[in-house]
Amino acid sequence: MTILVTGARGNLGGRLFRLLAQRGHAVRGSARAAAGGDGLVELDLTAPAEQAERALRGVEAVFLYPARGPVDGFLRAAGEAGVRHVVLLSSPAAYEAHEHDRALGLAHRAVERALDASGLGYTVLYPSWLATNAARDWAGSVGSTGTVEIAFPEAQFNPIHPDDVAAVAAELLTGRAHRARMQVLTGPRSMRLREVVAELGAALGRELRVEELSREQALERRAAWLPEPVLSALLDAAEAAVGVPAPVTNAVERITGRPARSFGEWAAANREPFEGLS
Ligand SMILES: NC(=O)c1ccc[n+]([C@@H]2O[C@H](COP(=O)([O-])OP(=O)(O)OC[C@H]3O[C@@H](n4cnc5c(N)ncnc54)[C@H](OP(=O)(O)O)[C@@H]3O)[C@@H](O)[C@H]2O)c1
Repeated sequence: MTILVTGARGNLGGRLFRLLAQRGHAVRGSARAAAGGDGLVELDLTAPAEQAERALRGVEAVFLYPARGPVDGFLRAAGEAGVRHVVLLSSPAAYEAHEHDRALGLAHRAVERALDASGLGYTVLYPSWLATNAARDWAGSVGSTGTVEIAFPEAQFNPIHPDDVAAVAAELLTGRAHRARMQVLTGPRSMRLREVVAELGAALGRELRVEELSREQALERRAAWLPEPVLSALLDAAEAAVGVPAPVTNAVERITGRPARSFGEWAAANREPFEGLS
């Protein structure tokens, strides 16, 4: 049985691809631009079906990224190719009060609806706040000035180790035991963002300063990759999470047989992006 991992160059897809290969499974990775010498097949999930047919030959299970755009053609091709189970990476934005009816939530829900309508067997993953967000959002300022700018530092999130998301996906793709319709994945505990920064500082061996931003400042300093409506919804969600503990589930341990890894464990193994240029 071959497993297709879409987005095999992505943060989560890459980890999953390597994990399945290490465990000796027959795995095929795809990317939208396949050239690169890494053996990936070309696949845009929103492209016409011939591309999908090639990528899906002999495939029984698929890890699906929540592509923006219609994935119905891909799902139809998956059914015709004999795919038995799809593991969809979604986001709590699909159901959270301040996000489900905004851009990010709607995009995730559209893929979920298409998957439900496809008739394929599936499990939707809802991972909490990815620990890798710290590197994506904070590495530059931590490396240069030792500060982290946050609009709602008392907001509570539950950081999840990206390897735990990959480990759960691997179990669901290779065995039937946990193939429920959805799995809400979290790290071990709810943390205020200020605490997350402190744990990062402890891992780096230096104290980091939190600079609290107003909503307006956060919007002004928006990263170019983050559309304004998405940031606006994220800020609403963060504001609503002030003083509200984030969910904690036992799904990672239940499915992988190992307790969920802590944010500190991730930070200790990922100091390099925060070390700056000097
Ligand atoms: N950040 C969080 O805290 C959090 C929490 C829960 C859920 N999520 C969700 O997790 C996802 C991000 O995961 P990540 O960190 O692994 O992201 P990432 O590193 O940015 O990777 C995204 C991947 O998606 C693939 N992709 C996008 N559109 C595609 C399309 N049309 N066809 C085929 N592949 C496509 C990309 O493929 P190419 O390499 O070919 O471009 C890329 O590999 C987002 O959907 C986000 O909403 C994030």
